[in-house]
Amino acid sequence: VEETLVLIKPDGVARGLTGEILRRIEAKGYQLVDLRFVHADRDLLAQHYEEHQGKPFYEPLVEFMESGPVVAARVAGNRVIEGFRSLAGTTDPSSAAPGTIRGDLGRDWGLKVQQNLVHGSDSTESAARELALWF
Ligand code: GTP
Ligand code: MG
Repeated sequence: VEETLVLIKPDGVARGLTGEILRRIEAKGYQLVDLRFVHADRDLLAQHYEEHQGKPFYEPLVEFMESGPVVAARVAGNRVIEGFRSLAGTTDPSSAAPGTIRGDLGRDWGLKVQQNLVHGSDSTESAARELALWF
């Protein structure tokens, strides 16, 4: 069965949305296989976000991600990689559709698009790579 890495980012943890986000994942029928709190260091985040190194939002993104604990989840299910990204909604919470995690719970932070509550792997290759980093 397919597996993906879900991260509840520092804004989701700080706002007390961990339970609500995990509830949505379980309600959809996906299985929580492993779960941990991680206060990520720069080295882990640099590896996690290596595809974004050099982009203008990279530095603020890493700074935000190391600002507090995140919840990392190993989630399993049929077509869960695509399915979780659909549950999460589009990257910018201010335009994410209602019914999605970012659309329902995300706030419009202006330029702070990085504060969008969750991360989900975007392919089987990145899921394998990211799961090995966080677990
Ligand atoms: P993830 O599931 O977190 O990977 O989101 P994504 O796949 O929808 O977005 P992407 O991989 O393109 O970018 C990774 C993260 O960088 C996003 O979730 C945002 O937190 C942040 N990000 C992406 N684009 C921008 C941007 O234009 N500005 C800012 N400030 N942050 C961005
Ligand atoms: Mg991404």
